[in-house]
Parts: sequence; structure tokens; C-alpha cells
Amino acid sequence: MSFKKQKIQFSRLSQAGGALIEGIDLKKPLGCEEAEALRLAWTEHLVLVARNQIIDEEDQERFCQLFGELAGLHSKVSSETPKGKSGAKVLWVANIDNPTRPTAVQRGEMMFHIDQCYTEYPSKASTLYAVNIPKIGGNTRFSNLQKAYEELSDDWKNRLKGLRALNYFDYRSNATTRPKKIDPDAPQYFHPLVRTHSVSGQKSLFVNRQMTIYIEGMERSESDEILGFLFNRMEDPDNIYEHIWQVGDLVLWDNRCTAHARTYYDPEEARLLRRMTVVDECPVI
Ligand code: SIN
Repeated sequence: MSFKKQKIQFSRLSQAGGALIEGIDLKKPLGCEEAEALRLAWTEHLVLVARNQIIDEEDQERFCQLFGELAGLHSKVSSETPKGKSGAKVLWVANIDNPTRPTAVQRGEMMFHIDQCYTEYPSKASTLYAVNIPKIGGNTRFSNLQKAYEELSDDWKNRLKGLRALNYFDYRSNATTRPKKIDPDAPQYFHPLVRTHSVSGQKSLFVNRQMTIYIEGMERSESDEILGFLFNRMEDPDNIYEHIWQVGDLVLWDNRCTAHARTYYDPEEARLLRRMTVVDECPVI
């Protein structure tokens, strides 16, 4: 495929992160300089948005590969799981099931979570491409977990040192409430409450209201108090970039340092997004 240099620019979308990529056409392949500019902007802004894109699966896959190995056919979900066992590379996020393609049927609101944080290797990056969008709502809200950590007092930062929490997900669970019971057969993994970004070296919280259940080795009341405090900090409106979707948007986010949630929308209206994710080669440290 031949390529012509594209003059890409970035503009900040909020004080809590997010940048709009201007001057980009993702139908066309990008050169090394553009790819590097995108990676640098991603490290700085955590969420990148490209608007008015008319792209197919192949174009989305090429974009994802600028940031790492595509999850799916070759992804590693744990040190015990051989590569090549974890399924399709595209997952459709929709409110209407379509048995002809892999679909996560999700309706309405969804609490803050981090993609695959309940596995040993949570995904590094996620992308969603908007095909159908409801007239109102169904926005995706991104919490900046670096800012949430940075703004903690030194006492809080010290209190969190060395702690780990159980991250858990049951695919049958309700996306608007915290799980009440833990099914030992559902995916779950202990990760540190604070992690260090493998590129920028910046620290961030690594917890979320939907999937982080309790802190290891601690009384449940103290664990609930700490987690409740952290959830409220990360979900503070000053810490959020809220993306209002348009058809043709491609959004990329960093799961190492953001959590995301979805606002309510009318389930009678179609909402369809094509999701692809990128694996993380590093364990959570
Ligand atoms: C997701 O968390 O996978 C979906 C987010 C969204 O539908 O906005």
C-alpha cells in the first residue's frame, strides 16, 4: 500500500485527558513519523479521538497495531494460557444480539471498569468505532487514574503502598451494581492498587467500582472504606473526560491508566460499536 504523509495535529479535549486527532484519514496507512506522533500523544493524553472516519475492520486493525499486538487470536490472558486460545479479534458492543458475529450485548448504563483487569494481563489499549449511536446518552466516560493518584495526599499514597486487590468479573452480572457474591469459577486476579505506566513511568490508581472487590489481607470494613474513597476520587467530575459519540468516531484509550463507564441510553435505540483491543506485554507492576 502506498502512503502520503498526513499532517496530524492534536487538540486537548478536557483537563482530565483526551485529545482530538485532526488531519488524519485512517483509511490510509500511516508512516513512521505519524505513528510515533500518535504514540507520544497517547502517552500524554491517554484517550485519542478521530472523527468522521469511514473505516473497515482491516483499517481499525492496522491502527491498533501501531500500539501493540492485537488481542484475540494471539493474545495471552495468563502465564498458564498458551497464546492463541482466546477468541476473535473483533467484538461488537451492541444492544441487539446478532448471532452471525461475536457480540457483547450491553444495554444502558455501565459502571466504571478497566478492560480485562480480572486477568493476569489486562489489555493495554482498547478501541471502539461507532457505527450506530443513540440520539441521547450512551456516552463513554473516561477517568484519568494518573491524575486521581497524583492528587491524593502523601498520607493516602503511603497507605496504598504494597496493597493488592481482587479484580473480578462475572459475564452474567449486572453492569450497574457491584457483585454481591464471588463465583470461584469466574475470572479473577489480584493486582496492585497502584501501578506504574510502562512507557511514561507515571503512577496511577488501578481499581474500579465494577470489578475491584476487596483488598487482600484486610478487614472487609477497612477495605470497603479505602476502595469507596478511591472510587469517589476517580469518578469526580474534574477527573473525567466524557465522550459524546458521533457515527464515524474511532476512540483509543489506555487501560493502564484510565477506567471507563457508559451513561444511560434508551435501549430501544440502536447502539453498535466495533471493538478491538491490544494486549499488554508487561505484567501489572
Ligand atoms: C465497554 O466498556 O466495553 C463499552 C463501553 C461503551 O459501550 O461505551
